[in-house]
Amino acid sequence: MSEAAISAEGLVRTFGDVRALDGVDLEVPEATVLGLLGPNGAGKTTAVRVLTTLLRPDSGRASVAGVDVLKHPDKVRSLIGLSGQYAAVDEYLTGQENLQMVGELYQMSAREAKARARELLKRFSLDDAAGRIAKTYSGGMRRRLDLAAALVVRPPVMFLDEPTTGLDPRNRMALWEVIEELVGEGTTLLLTTQYLEEADRLAHDIAVVDRGRVIARGTADQLKAQIGGERVEVVVTDSAALPLAVEALAPYAIGEPTVEPHTRRITVPVTGGARVLADVIRDLDARGILIHDIGLRRPTLDDVFLSLTGHVTEAEEGGDEDEGGPQSPDGETGAGRRAGRKKARV
Ligand SMILES: Nc1ncnc2c1ncn2[C@@H]1O[C@H](COP(=O)(O)OP(=O)(O)OP(=O)(O)O)[C@@H](O)[C@H]1O
Ligand SMILES: [Mg+2]
Repeated sequence: MSEAAISAEGLVRTFGDVRALDGVDLEVPEATVLGLLGPNGAGKTTAVRVLTTLLRPDSGRASVAGVDVLKHPDKVRSLIGLSGQYAAVDEYLTGQENLQMVGELYQMSAREAKARARELLKRFSLDDAAGRIAKTYSGGMRRRLDLAAALVVRPPVMFLDEPTTGLDPRNRMALWEVIEELVGEGTTLLLTTQYLEEADRLAHDIAVVDRGRVIARGTADQLKAQIGGERVEVVVTDSAALPLAVEALAPYAIGEPTVEPHTRRITVPVTGGARVLADVIRDLDARGILIHDIGLRRPTLDDVFLSLTGHVTEAEEGGDEDEGGPQSPDGETGAGRRAGRKKARV
């Protein structure tokens, strides 16, 4: 038995001609979060369904908390929590009843189940709606109730399939906090997401999946480093100053500069971070070159995703099958963060 809380080897699952899983290996150490990233149709949900015993693979093996998923599915089910891309709450029970029922199903005392239900309803801002039947909930409310249901019992291993799709920024944050608490207490989590910022914040390790295969794996920083380092971007006020500015930047560049005359922008790859930026500003100033804008850009996970898969994520494309519609993970506040993103679409 390995140390890994979730482990998969050579998982293959086909649907007719589609190889939804085409030899997937995964390894998630205990009390860590693995972020499964990938474009639509990559095989993320299929992988989650196999690991949670809802679907049998054509070949390969998998274990959860040391228990073989194919040989002992019942045992595995008792060890995991699952929240799916599509909600599974009972429409004719109230929010409170839904959560309480889950608790009692998992052998909590009535009193304990009630208290846990209350706590979670509060956490996800559902306390006002606790006494209403779920049928009357909005899409986002249902989603939150489904998530709360997955969190009633604190299972050793959790699977969350796009947990924050359709949630507003406040509820997304609330969920992140709950997740961080659980992982701090020892829960292992496999999370799929279209929001790269979510993976950046929560995942210890990221596996990028495309066409049923894991095409890259590492920490967010490792993946970013893989596609190239930081760069200084300068926009000069007067395009006549471009040649002079290129000359001033040359000592700092560790590669060829890119010059875009129409936007008066020069980009040079650098190392050394903010220190270099300060030196560059001083140098340009000493030469009397007026700066319209300047910044240090680091690659974002968006850049990584684009460069690896050649797709933008669903959240970026603006297409979304979920009722909440596309939302950026931070309510699109991060002008600075977003500024570093290439707009390329393939
Ligand atoms: N039950 C099914 N019957 C037929 N094809 C399926 C079935 N389930 C999945 N597929 C196909 O397998 C591939 C992987 O689907 P999957 O749902 O795992 O993707 P995903 O990565 O979760 O995508 P999304 O980001 O859209 O949720 C897709 O081409 C999908 O059409
Ligand atoms: Mg999916």
